[in-house]
Amino acid sequence: MSEPFEPRFGEGLCQAREIGPGRVDASVYSDPRRWELERERLFPRVWLIVDRAEVVPEAGDYLLWERSGQTVVIARQDDGSLAAFHNVCQHRGARIVSASGHSEGRRLVCRWHGFGYDLRGRVAHIPPRGQSFSPADVADLCAPAVAVEEWAGFIWINYAGERAEPLREYLAEVGDELDGYGIQDWKTYGGDAWEVPSNWKTTLDGFMEAWHTPTAHVKTLRGGFRYDETQFTCFDRHSMMVVPLEGIDLDALPQPIDHREHLYNHYLTFPNTIWSVFPHHAQVITVSPIDHARCYLQGWVMSRREAPPGVPQEKWERSNTTAVTHFRRVTSEDMWISSEAGATLRSYGYRRNILNEAECRITAYYQVLERYLSGESAA
Ligand code: FES
Ligand SMILES: [Fe+2]
Repeated sequence: MSEPFEPRFGEGLCQAREIGPGRVDASVYSDPRRWELERERLFPRVWLIVDRAEVVPEAGDYLLWERSGQTVVIARQDDGSLAAFHNVCQHRGARIVSASGHSEGRRLVCRWHGFGYDLRGRVAHIPPRGQSFSPADVADLCAPAVAVEEWAGFIWINYAGERAEPLREYLAEVGDELDGYGIQDWKTYGGDAWEVPSNWKTTLDGFMEAWHTPTAHVKTLRGGFRYDETQFTCFDRHSMMVVPLEGIDLDALPQPIDHREHLYNHYLTFPNTIWSVFPHHAQVITVSPIDHARCYLQGWVMSRREAPPGVPQEKWERSNTTAVTHFRRVTSEDMWISSEAGATLRSYGYRRNILNEAECRITAYYQVLERYLSGESAA
């Protein structure tokens, strides 16, 4: 890997002891008012992954994206950039489009009364039909803009629009980490999506620790990882853990150890994306709330296009196809467990979660979330 990096495996880099065990009250997951607070104070201020950028390759392509009660259009412009806007007709609130597509004429038309929008969400045409609107109501009329950027081969949006902090500043250290892989050039081999009957944070928590692996993934992930040697680092908002792989003699590696070259690295980009990254392969998962008791999980499986040294290209392609099947099996196990936790959401017996040191990223996560919900972290 060509770019300079800060090795993060070694003495003094593990924060498990520093953060220590923690607790999260059950109401954080079960209280619908909490979800309302997240809708109000968290989601309008953060960057969210939409999809791989390759889903809108051509000028005129537009993507309809709907999560957590929001409906957004992301459109490829003639200059190759993206624009995003709320998919809400500014006449009387119908969705402007009801599916993704391509517009040769660069025009999206609301089917209720025929307002036409350009691919930046500006009203470009109001059907005359002999009736007048108040000029003040229709001057510079446009669907509210959503900030959009492309990074690591993904489309990201931020509802804060022009008040959003630049994505790369938002991602900070974890952005530096992920930059080194060049994931934007990797090939997407597949993915999947699940609707899960559990709070979105319950599902997300399941990916922030590896301590469940020997029990929850006993059939699929036996061996391969040295979980008891995991090292954790929590940044201002995001976090990571580094897991040594079985069969690698850490003492024989050049010191300090290049964790991206030799180890399994796992990142959280706040608030809802998990990056599970090997030197030549990655799985990315986003968890979006539907309401306080249901969520939607989407995952992508990607690999470097060129086979690792010593691996024939044909074999590499085959192994990546197999990796998609494996991803589905492992994630299905996580979703089953998450549903089991979702089943107790309203139970009088569900009082709190207790967290150990190996679950310290979860403890840290709720400290960050609290900052947002209390209004401390502004966009
Ligand atoms: S609601 Fe879209 S044109 Fe009337
Ligand atoms: Fe898991």
